[in-house]
Amino acid sequence: MTIETQAVSPYDRIGGLTVLRQITDRFYTLMETEPGFAELRAMHSFDLAPMRESLPLFLAGWSGGPRTWWDANPGKCMVSMHTRFGINKATANQWADAMRQAITDVAPEDAAIAEALADVLDRMARGMAKA
Ligand code: HEM
Repeated sequence: MTIETQAVSPYDRIGGLTVLRQITDRFYTLMETEPGFAELRAMHSFDLAPMRESLPLFLAGWSGGPRTWWDANPGKCMVSMHTRFGINKATANQWADAMRQAITDVAPEDAAIAEALADVLDRMARGMAKA
């Protein structure tokens, strides 16, 4: 008898690209409207449309889904490409807090993977702070 196990990726558990887009759209809307994220907003370009497109695609490949962003950006390291933005503790915290709020607001069905996603992105963002 053979036992087949099928691994379900974090990408599938979170709800795929549809839910990742809902989260990142909410994230940029919070960034645009909440005064507490104003400093973070000011670091970004006026037009956030390209970011609304690239962040969900980055997260898709990173969580085990389609690698569209990664194929379009071969060898690009997300952490090193952020060094030029001069991220400090305050702006890293704003990113992490806005993302956690966005995930809470979208409330993906699988609450455990939603919390894990918020935690790992929180650590990644805070790890990008220089001082
Ligand atoms: C620590 C706080 C962070 C700050 C302050 C920050 C800031 C920025 C800024 C200013 C840009 C350029 C966008 C523009 O010009 O409009 C950018 C691009 C980007 N960031 Fe961040 N970021 C942070 C954390 C993160 C994290 C944790 C991720 C991934 C999980 C991420 C993913 C991206 C992506 C995908 C791009 C676009 C890159 C591309 O497609 O070429 N950022 N970020």
